[in-house]
Amino acid sequence: MTPLDYEFLRKLLKERSGLDLSADKQYLLESRLIPLARKAGVPGLPELVQKLKGGAEPLIAEVVEAMTTNETFFFRDKVPFDHFKGTIMPAMLQARAARRSLRIWCAAASTGQEPYSIAMCLKELGAALTGWRVEIVATDLAHSVLEKCRAGLFSQFEVQRGLPIQLLVKHFTQTGELWQLNADIRAMVQFRQLNLLHDFSNLGVFDIIFCRNVLIYFDQDTKTNVFGRLAKVIEPDGFLMLGAAETVVGLTEAFKPYPDRRGLYSPNSARAAQPALKAAASR
Ligand SMILES: C[S@@+](CC[C@H](N)C(=O)[O-])C[C@H]1O[C@@H](n2cnc3c(N)ncnc32)[C@H](O)[C@@H]1O
Repeated sequence: MTPLDYEFLRKLLKERSGLDLSADKQYLLESRLIPLARKAGVPGLPELVQKLKGGAEPLIAEVVEAMTTNETFFFRDKVPFDHFKGTIMPAMLQARAARRSLRIWCAAASTGQEPYSIAMCLKELGAALTGWRVEIVATDLAHSVLEKCRAGLFSQFEVQRGLPIQLLVKHFTQTGELWQLNADIRAMVQFRQLNLLHDFSNLGVFDIIFCRNVLIYFDQDTKTNVFGRLAKVIEPDGFLMLGAAETVVGLTEAFKPYPDRRGLYSPNSARAAQPALKAAASR
């Protein structure tokens, strides 16, 4: 691949998905895109680039999707789910007691382990949420992962990564070599294709946003832009959960770190939130 071809692909990916490829990632492009070039009936990347320059829209989408990293697992990093159960939900149960509704957005859901981990945590709350309207909206750029999300089917390997055995027994049914999440948990999650670079204001306003392990692929300006738009779709007393390698610090004033809870942030306009935040923090 020539430097010009590399630059073309780098620019295309940045524009379409936010992926900020450094100059030394040629091997990554080759390993992910050569199989796609063959599938498209061309021998290699230079010819694939020619096709892409011709504006072959479905092919562009396939290239963008092939370059996404979909690594995920149940209860990934554990701590965010401890914060969810121990800090976020106690605050929300109190703050939303009158309204009895909760909207949660999982903004880069990949194959579904994250939104389903959230759903299982909520299920464990049992009677505390009886009569509540709870929505979990799971979105991702990639269509292929969302199909897997919807099916709720996971391999033996996937259910052995992070999922406590009690939850496997309780919420999954073995079907051949796979495990399927039971319908009640699947029904708690709605799926939509969504690119975080595009306008997402039509999703409505959320109480809790999980946006984990996706911003790491973006450059600083793109992260700042996404944070600015996330701030517009989160309640003033809402919660934002980022991945272990992500932060708002130095990128936006729209969110601030939640005291003593790694990865957890609250909107900076959190005036209405103070009583609920204090109640949760004192637990
Ligand atoms: C590494 S996975 C993280 C999954 C999950 N949040 C977790 O932490 O386990 C990153 C996901 O972000 C998605 N993604 C990448 N760029 C995106 C974009 N511009 N908009 C929405 N999703 C994107 C990818 O398709 C991929 O599924």
